[in-house]
Formats: sequence, structure tokens, C-alpha cells
Amino acid sequence: MTVPVLQPIRPRAAVILAAGQGTRMKSPTPKVLHKLAGRTLLDHAIDAAEGLGCERIIVVVGAHSPQVGEAARKRLGPNATVVQDPPLGTGHAVLAAKDALADFNGDVVVTYADCPLTTAGVIAPLFDQITGGAHVAVLGFEAHNPTGYGRLILAPGHVLLRIVEEKEADLATKQVKHCNSGVLAADRAILFDLLANVRNDNAKGEYYLTDVVGLAHDRKLVTRAAFAPEASVQGVNSQAELAAAEVVWQKARRNALLVEGVTMPAPETVHLSWDTQIAGGAVVEQFVVFGPGVSVESGAVIKAFSHLEGAHVGEGALIGPYARLRPGAEIGPEAHIGNFVEVKNVKVGKGAKANHLSYLGDGSVGEKANIGAGAIFCNYDGFEKFQTHVGKGAFIGSNSALVAPVRVGDGAMTGSGSVITKDVEDGALALARPEQTIKAGWATKFRALKQAKKDAKTK
Ligand code: UD1
Ligand code: CA
Repeated sequence: MTVPVLQPIRPRAAVILAAGQGTRMKSPTPKVLHKLAGRTLLDHAIDAAEGLGCERIIVVVGAHSPQVGEAARKRLGPNATVVQDPPLGTGHAVLAAKDALADFNGDVVVTYADCPLTTAGVIAPLFDQITGGAHVAVLGFEAHNPTGYGRLILAPGHVLLRIVEEKEADLATKQVKHCNSGVLAADRAILFDLLANVRNDNAKGEYYLTDVVGLAHDRKLVTRAAFAPEASVQGVNSQAELAAAEVVWQKARRNALLVEGVTMPAPETVHLSWDTQIAGGAVVEQFVVFGPGVSVESGAVIKAFSHLEGAHVGEGALIGPYARLRPGAEIGPEAHIGNFVEVKNVKVGKGAKANHLSYLGDGSVGEKANIGAGAIFCNYDGFEKFQTHVGKGAFIGSNSALVAPVRVGDGAMTGSGSVITKDVEDGALALARPEQTIKAGWATKFRALKQAKKDAKTK
């Protein structure tokens, strides 16, 4: 899924708030490093900022979870984080980014790192308000249940007078259903100027970012709201909320794939990753799981209960049921990977088949080769990995063990049950198993003897 980067009219920067403790996750993993669709919440937030065309992105982190800062710097560079310690409210958190943005001239958008469904597309209407002349714009939503949210006090024409936090709200204000998502945009200089005037004489004793709206309005600056669907601005505070966000994300992405022409008879059972690419004309059956890094070409069929990650499936290939494709599995067009076959770091040629109970790890399988049931690439000696190469049109007998490094030539065959340790030349047959011996009549005599013994006992 490639998100087009919008070309901003004025330079944009983002301040992503991630200094919260996230204690309700009850996990040693910091909240924003939990994953949705196989990607951390933090990365989703950074994706949104990048998708909006932000040329500077500052992540505000707490002193309590250094891993969050490390993850942000790894992706964005050494100057991408500032520490807020102790956390004294959202306004105080944004102020922590003041020096980092001192030389930036343009608009700043403030977002939360724990809102993975708030994509660039969701935030875009906020910048329409800025472009339309707003000095401060806030992304709102109509809450099913507004309890806990800051309320937007609106005047006609999306004019925003002020935001009242739940704890400061009187009974009448609590009836307001228009709520603050937390996403706010303003010109950098105006924003920090307003923030310098925010005080903490409120119910929580915090510096509320939301107070900048009332301050701006008092100064006769233009303050407006834009709106987004409630589900797209939901924050994640607990494992249950993370799971709920995952459901929303999965459903939206599956629907997009259906629109693009992917056939899914039971879409609700298919699990996708943030970067899963499936071309129209592909079929994905029930209970298929896509880990990160998978692309599937048109006409391919992924049968039920298959698990794929880091794999490419070519046109018209047939995968599963119960197949496992691991990173580096490159399945060529019209190839077949059947039940209980695991493929890792192997390029499988066009029309090749491995239909039953195999492990293909590290190497290649040539075009139209046939891998018999139970064949194994023995790729690991406990220390190092080695490659197995099977040539074009080769035939690997059932239950062959190919001990890497080894090469089976084009059109060559291996006998069933062979343990192949030496290269096999093109067109040859390799047999590596004890020769069969035949003892004529032995079984008949054996049975007669045993039966006579049994009969003698029961008399
Ligand atoms: C905030 C908004 C509220 C809005 C709601 C939406 C304020 C004062 N209130 O309330 O209007 O409806 O979000 O969910 O802005 N954070 C920091 N440092 C801090 C405090 C918070 O980085 O000192 C981060 C948190 O990690 C979180 C975000 O800011 O990602 C929001 O903080 P939270 O305490 O959840 O704000 P709310 O009280 O829910
Ligand atoms: Ca919150």
C-alpha cells in the first residue's frame, strides 16, 4: 500500500506525543512499541506525519521508556526526539519540542503516538482549515460517548471558541458531543507563543495543550475545527483497545482489497499486515495469515490456513492449504506449494511443485522441478546454513534428504528415501539408500509358524 505524500503549501513539521506511561497496557513493552497490523503504533504515527509531508518530525518521549526514543531515532535520525520529564500535561509536552523547532518556519501538527488509525488522510482536513486561513485548527469528532474527552465549544462555520476538558466541564458542557481528537495544527511561532501563556491552574494541575484555542480566540486569531470519523481517532490505552483498533484496521484494509478485486470468500478470517500487497484477481481463502513483507500476484490462490511472511507469490501460483512461507520465499508463477510445506529463503521456479510435507530452506528449485512428499533440505549443521540447489525439471524422490551444500542437476532424479550428500550431475539418477533384498516365501512361512504356535496355546 503506497500512500501518496501530499505536497504541502507551507512547510510542515510534526510533534508526536509519546511521553505517557501507558501503564494500562500492563506490559513490559512500552505502549507505543506494541504493534498494530505488524507495525508499531509509533511507526504508524510517523507514517501519518510523513504522509502529510512533514519535513521535520519530533517525537516527545518520557524518561521512563528509553526504547521509545531509540526506535524513533533509528527511523528518523539522532535529533528526532526530545525528552519530557516529568510529564506535566500535553501543553508542556509540546513545549518540550520548542527548541528543536526554533529554526523551523511553517505549520506544526501535534499528534499522539498511540492513535494508529489516525492516518495522513484522516488528518488532511485539518490542513484544509489552515490553508483556508485558520491560525489554529483542531481535529474533532462526534463521540458516541463523550465522557473523558475535551469538548469543542463551536460557533457556526466550524469556528472553534475554546476546548473544555472533561474535568473542567459543567453539566451543560458535558452534553456536548463534539470532542477533541488531540490533533492540532498551528503556525509554529503562534503555537509556541500561545503555549507560553498556558497555565496549570485547573482541576488536573496540568498544562493543557487545548487551552491554546481559547487564548488564540481571545487574541482574535482564527480558530477552526475539522472533523474525522470517531473510529479513526481512537487512542489505544489497553490491550483490549489495541485489539479493537486492530479489528477496525483489518476490516478497512480487507475492504480495500475486495474493492481492488481480490477474492476472499471469508474476509473476516484473513489477517493482513500493514504492507501486505495482494493484486486484484488473486484468491485468498479462509484463515490465511499474512505477516509483514508479503506480495501476491494476480491469479495466485492462497488456500486455507496458510501462513506467509516476507514472501513473494508469483502469478497463478497455488499455495496451501496449510503452507508456510517464510522470509525469502520467492514462489515463481504457477508453482505449487502444498500442505505442510515450509519454504524459507528459496527461489522456486516457474511451475515447480512441492506439494506435500517438505522443508525447503536456503537455495533454489528450478522451473518445473518436482519435490516429492517429505523431501527435506538439510540446511543447518548447528552452526552454519548451507544452500541446496535443485535444477530445472529435476525430480526429488519422496523422503529424500538433501544435505547442503548440495546441487541436483537439471533433469536429474533422486530415489525415494535417499540421503544425498554429493552433487548430482544433469540427467543422472542418484540412489543413496541400502539396496533391497528379497527372501522369497519368507513371510508366508513366518506367518504359518506363528499361527501354529498360537493355535497350540489355545487348544
Ligand atoms: C487529551 C486532550 C483531550 C482529548 C483527548 C483525546 C488535553 C489537555 N486533553 O486528553 O482534549 O479529548 O486527549 O484522547 O490535551 N502526553 C505526553 N505528555 C504529557 C501528557 C500526555 O506526552 O505530559 C501524551 C500521552 O502519551 C498521550 C497524549 O499525550 O499520547 C494524550 O494524553 P492523555 O493524558 O491521554 O490526554 P487526555 O487526558 O486523554
Ligand atoms: Ca487519553
